[in-house]
Amino acid sequence: MEILQSGNMGVSMKESENLTADSIRELIKAAIEARRKSYSPYSHYQVGAALLTADGQIVTGCNIENAAYGPSNCAERTAFFKAVSEGMREFTAIAIVGSPEGEELTQYAYPCGVCRQVMREFCEPERFRIIVAKSEEDYRVMTLAALLPESFGSENLCDGNEQCQR
Ligand code: THU
Repeated sequence: MEILQSGNMGVSMKESENLTADSIRELIKAAIEARRKSYSPYSHYQVGAALLTADGQIVTGCNIENAAYGPSNCAERTAFFKAVSEGMREFTAIAIVGSPEGEELTQYAYPCGVCRQVMREFCEPERFRIIVAKSEEDYRVMTLAALLPESFGSENLCDGNEQCQR
């Protein structure tokens, strides 16, 4: 898997187009803050996400569980659905932090398959950045294409049909 950028305590980071080390840090900070709102009394696994829109706004989300288990929602989808329901449709990056209950982030929390597919609906796989972090300084940055290769999207529905309105 290709990691485009990474931060590790004390190591300076390379900056890539439109995503500076400062904006990455700000997004991670927002995701850590959002994780505090996690409603996860069943799994005790807390996740926070911060989604950066193309015009620079940050929309956050946390995981929200349910006694019936099935209706639970991941942090990433909470952020996407909040943003889309407010009219936002273009996104640059998402930062995700997740770990078992508690202050400490003990792992990189990669997005689940369903969340990757939801990202695919609204983002260009080669351009959209996914940041998984253990702290503001310790993170990895990947494209959605790296995490969801050979993906299925709306353009598949129209393939070869010029009349297609979808
Ligand atoms: N979870 C997320 O919020 N995002 C992911 O990508 C993976 C899993 C949540 C769902 C559930 O509330 C808890 O983590 C344990 O699976």
